[in-house]
Amino acid sequence: MLKKLPPSITALLLQSAAVVLMLLTVNVTERYVSPLLFALLCGLLAATFSFFAGLAKWWLVIQLIFAPALVLMLAVKLPPTLFLGVFLILLLVYWSTFHTQVPLYFSSNKVWQALEHLLPVAKINSDFTFIDLGCGLGGVLTHLASVRPDGRYFGVEAAPLPFFWSWLRIGLSNHHNCQVRWGNLWDCDLSLYDVVFAYLSPVPMEKLWHKARAEMRPGTMFISSTFNVLDQTHHGTVQVDDLHHSTLFIWHM
Ligand SMILES: C[S@@+](CC[C@H](N)C(=O)[O-])C[C@H]1O[C@@H](n2cnc3c(N)ncnc32)[C@H](O)[C@@H]1O
Repeated sequence: MLKKLPPSITALLLQSAAVVLMLLTVNVTERYVSPLLFALLCGLLAATFSFFAGLAKWWLVIQLIFAPALVLMLAVKLPPTLFLGVFLILLLVYWSTFHTQVPLYFSSNKVWQALEHLLPVAKINSDFTFIDLGCGLGGVLTHLASVRPDGRYFGVEAAPLPFFWSWLRIGLSNHHNCQVRWGNLWDCDLSLYDVVFAYLSPVPMEKLWHKARAEMRPGTMFISSTFNVLDQTHHGTVQVDDLHHSTLFIWHM
């Protein structure tokens, strides 16, 4: 049953189970346990439960340190408004991650440069269209709009603060061939674009590939940074010499 739930809910349930189990143990044994030790044991239990529940590696680390970090932060006695402020900022940035399982992280400058070479060849009196699905802070769009002004660049972003940032970035950099909207990539009509770019996560890739196959026109190109589509042979790759050794997977439609 746990496998059907989003990983964040599973993690929360397992963390709660660890706390309840620890409370019962302390109650039954009637021994004094310091708050930090209690939290450390909760973390260990939660991480163990998460391991057996099959959660990804990074969840085990989060589960392990969550309760001890909570106890340590409370000991520092920071003003509660600080936590509220940080929470609201994180909410605006990671707004959609709960549903999409695609957090915000950025393509490197080297990926931007590699994309330049994949754009359609420049032709007199003809432009092309490019979309970044989940455009984050708009770096890909503004870079390409500067180096290849013969294209029209579009971005869609679900998270409010990154959307606002990219909207501002485009406005301030005066790129008239570039626009971004706040919305869901699943509502985009991919038949409108010559190049569709995505840098998301493994989770939506299969569904996105089927959307691209169904909507994109023959002769257009779908590029996914880092995340391949299982069982779907790509037509080319570009290896990027950046910190993460990013790979661009390319499909010609
Ligand atoms: C890994 S970041 C990539 C940002 C940017 N494309 C880049 O290459 O630097 C993925 C972005 O996709 C956004 N995103 C995830 N799912 C989305 C969806 N269904 N609709 C629109 N944006 C989405 C996230 O909010 C996040 O900002």
